Amino acid sequence: MKKVYVKSYGCQMNVYDAERMSDVLAPEGYAQTDRPEEADLVILNTCHIREKAAEKVYSELGRVRQTKQERAQAGRETKVVVAGCVAQAEGAEILKRAQVVDAVVGPQSYQRLREILRAAERRRVVDTEFPVADKFDELPALDARRVRGRGVTAFLTVQEGCDKFCSFCVVPYTRGAEVSRPVAKVLAEARTLAEAGVREITVIGQNVNAYHGEGPDGRTWGLARLLRALAEIAGVARLRYTTSHPRDMDEELIAAHRDLPSLMPYLHLPVQAGSDRILAAMNRKHTGDAYRRIIERVRAARPDIALSSDFIVGFPGESDADFEETMRLVADVGFASAFSFKYSPRPGTPAADETAQVPEPVKAERLARLQALLEEQRQAFNRDTVGRTVEVLIEKSGRHPGQLAGKSPYLQAVVVENAGLSVGDVVPVTIVRAGSNSLFGGTNASRAGAPPTQPDVSANASAGEAALAVQ
Ligand code: 5AD
Ligand code: SF4
Repeated sequence: MKKVYVKSYGCQMNVYDAERMSDVLAPEGYAQTDRPEEADLVILNTCHIREKAAEKVYSELGRVRQTKQERAQAGRETKVVVAGCVAQAEGAEILKRAQVVDAVVGPQSYQRLREILRAAERRRVVDTEFPVADKFDELPALDARRVRGRGVTAFLTVQEGCDKFCSFCVVPYTRGAEVSRPVAKVLAEARTLAEAGVREITVIGQNVNAYHGEGPDGRTWGLARLLRALAEIAGVARLRYTTSHPRDMDEELIAAHRDLPSLMPYLHLPVQAGSDRILAAMNRKHTGDAYRRIIERVRAARPDIALSSDFIVGFPGESDADFEETMRLVADVGFASAFSFKYSPRPGTPAADETAQVPEPVKAERLARLQALLEEQRQAFNRDTVGRTVEVLIEKSGRHPGQLAGKSPYLQAVVVENAGLSVGDVVPVTIVRAGSNSLFGGTNASRAGAPPTQPDVSANASAGEAALAVQ
């Protein structure tokens, strides 16, 4: 049997794409491996969002070259494919820079991977077309057995691309214009996931709350309506969505947070910066106060919602005073988690041509200050959970015998002491301790969950939750 090793970088969309690539290859007899040295086919599914991401790919290709040579000495052939957003952005340049690469495949072309590999037998291939045909239509149907092997949580792409053109971002160039999948296709995929035992679906898109898919009624549906339909699917205990833009946070979506118990109280809503001047230069088309008002409305609808965001420090022209505005916004809002980055000029984006680039040491200092504040908030949020009982979706067994690992509604990792539970159960867990990256808790509910085909397992869970011994 042939083996494929897929390494994915960057966002959740790439995780989804990587899974779909191995689905495309399965009928060709490829089994997945996590050991590159035994792979007949190596796929690097790349990310182009920041400079470091692309550089990592080239150093990984150096290692792949080594492996390919060693395998060749043993008489075994290795094909190497670069996929994802670096593939889209750099195209043939990759073939020039890395001799080891046999094919370059963009994120809108991987459904043709089998044909591409056949062509790569004769010559090196670049396929970075944005085809007219729907990629999703050409992909093989989800296979229940393969889905089950991937666990009880799944990503489901409902929207791709972006029309917002933030001045720092490559996404509109690498992933193309915003496209939403039709509602019926999304629901069909969700049902397959649920039937295969998936308990939590995260609907994903580069701009997922801009979703505007064709509904079965011929009308355009927004994300809120789609979430309401997904919430009806038996077996789906939890829904999440990511990633969103403040400008698309409409009333209906906020209301969905109030009305849908299975929509988890967690919102990743990137703001990028706190200064209105910088937000304007970033082409975000909202102010810091507009963001604060959105958060107020979301909190009014769902008071326990945990917030998460993305931040960029050192955007061209960012002064000390501008940066203080970011710190002030973080202090005002309070985040349960966040991602923060130094601005990285991306070729082809408007901000990269700005002359007022911020010096590296200034970026580093700002990032350190921002991250210290965000980390303080994250730890405080986690500490606040101690003593509370939260519903945990059990995702896998833990590191030690008798331990299981899962997630709270607020996306916190929770280690649960209870050998009687199974993966896929949703159980109330009393949190007794917050570690630096996980919460620890116990439950005396045994087999509190139910088989995945039954909805709302948490309703069956027994309530007494004296915490058991926790390490
Ligand atoms: N430099 C730094 N961070 C960036 N991001 C996107 N483009 C850049 C860039 N050029 C960050 C944004 C975005 C997240 C996915 O990556 O914060 O929300
Ligand atoms: Fe990039 Fe802005 Fe689109 Fe997000 S909204 S993908 S940051 S252009």
